[in-house]
Amino acid sequence: MPQRLSLSRAARLVGVTRSTLQKSIQTGQLSTFEGKVTVTDLLRVYPETQMENTTLLERVERIKAEAVYEQWRSDTTTLPHPEVLMARLTNLSKELVSTKNELKKYLELIETLWQKITELEQVNDVQLRSHCHALYEWLVSEKQSHSQIINEAVIQLLAKDTVLRIMAAHVKLIPSEHEFFIEGNASILEAALQAGIALNYGCSSGNCGLCKARVVAGEVQKIRQHDYVISEAEKLMGYKLMCAHTAITDLIIEADEAHHVTDIPLQQIEAKVKKLEPVTPELLILYLQTPRTKTLRFFAGQMVTLHLESGLSGHYFIASCPCDGRNLEFHIAADNSFIEPAFQQLKPGQSINIEGPKGDFVLPEDSTRPALFIAYSHGFAPIKGLLEHAFALDTIAAFHLYWLANHENGFYQNNLCRAWADALDSFQYTPIIATRDELSLKQAFSSIWLEYPDLSQFEVYIAGPEWFITVVKEQLQQHPLPTTQLHSAAIA
Ligand code: FES
Repeated sequence: MPQRLSLSRAARLVGVTRSTLQKSIQTGQLSTFEGKVTVTDLLRVYPETQMENTTLLERVERIKAEAVYEQWRSDTTTLPHPEVLMARLTNLSKELVSTKNELKKYLELIETLWQKITELEQVNDVQLRSHCHALYEWLVSEKQSHSQIINEAVIQLLAKDTVLRIMAAHVKLIPSEHEFFIEGNASILEAALQAGIALNYGCSSGNCGLCKARVVAGEVQKIRQHDYVISEAEKLMGYKLMCAHTAITDLIIEADEAHHVTDIPLQQIEAKVKKLEPVTPELLILYLQTPRTKTLRFFAGQMVTLHLESGLSGHYFIASCPCDGRNLEFHIAADNSFIEPAFQQLKPGQSINIEGPKGDFVLPEDSTRPALFIAYSHGFAPIKGLLEHAFALDTIAAFHLYWLANHENGFYQNNLCRAWADALDSFQYTPIIATRDELSLKQAFSSIWLEYPDLSQFEVYIAGPEWFITVVKEQLQQHPLPTTQLHSAAIA
């Protein structure tokens, strides 16, 4: 096991989120060298680390699993496929044998050195004898201090790291330096998307070749057949399809990622209505499913145009996470022209044409600033997508959602927000009843600004009707906030 660990591996090992570990680094509790922390430093800050101590991480994983990629959860179990497990165990056994051999060689070397020093201590030269004695003393004290370092806590941590390495492989992408883990039977592509990373892909089923990337270090295993043919020259260079392979060992992969909304092409996909869920008399949640071989690629917070067979069409924000481009969620309100036919005519199995993605209401790439989300009514839809994406990325230090609505029923996914707040120490949720009248809004905003008088270091995301965006922007004029840190989405 390496004595220096990447942040994501260290976080997983001590059972905290990566953003929690980043906080420890910012406050000077933990130090890093080339982006890594040492095992001893980690144990100093988290001395109580045990095999079972994964509570926070498990809570976060549970939320991510339940809220973010429900569909994949049924397709990918936590335990890797037996073949992958065998390959990982074989690999670790090889590593163990080679480490043991190396250790044996070093022990023999030290033994020989020891003998030579003892022999030199017998010579007549007083100065040489004194140097030899000093060297002997130094060796004894080094040996003692090393045996103190390898104490029970370190052994526990090493054992835990080995178990985690069998259960999940770590992947580092270059040049972005993004990192993620591959669990269960997920492909490299699925695991990257679940971690909120916008890896290049198209069909996700081995046909288009868009997910082709170069494995620079580590071993992969094919988990599904693919029609796309990788040339012999590319094979020699280590190119593989990310949608058809999983990891046996930790990997370093050179891969293309989308960094900006313009990096994702406009797509046309015929999806089917999977479910219709009227949550209030004014709001319907529409679940669409794309064909398995043609999923929608998008950034969280973006919108699409939905074209109904009847000829009606409307723009809707995607309320789900890009980690699952097959199962899409939309919140459709009664005051929209689309709602009547949507309510009255749509049936599960019916076709809807999706055209998108569109819009730039997205999380800035690699932002770690604390974030304030303010949604009004079903402006919650794009905010939900952003939040789920932020949970998956696990890089934002702290975030607070204020959800404003004109009556109790307006918080139509209140339980979900409360569950997030319970599970994540870094997330706060405050529902506020506020009508459109000036006094009601003034009261709502004064409670927000009281808690956040200085927003200069924040990213602020607002989503709601046009009039609401205007009011919030007017309010924000009294709070210094760089324009690049303010993001807004007007909903229909
Ligand atoms: S995404 Fe099309 S081949 Fe992998």
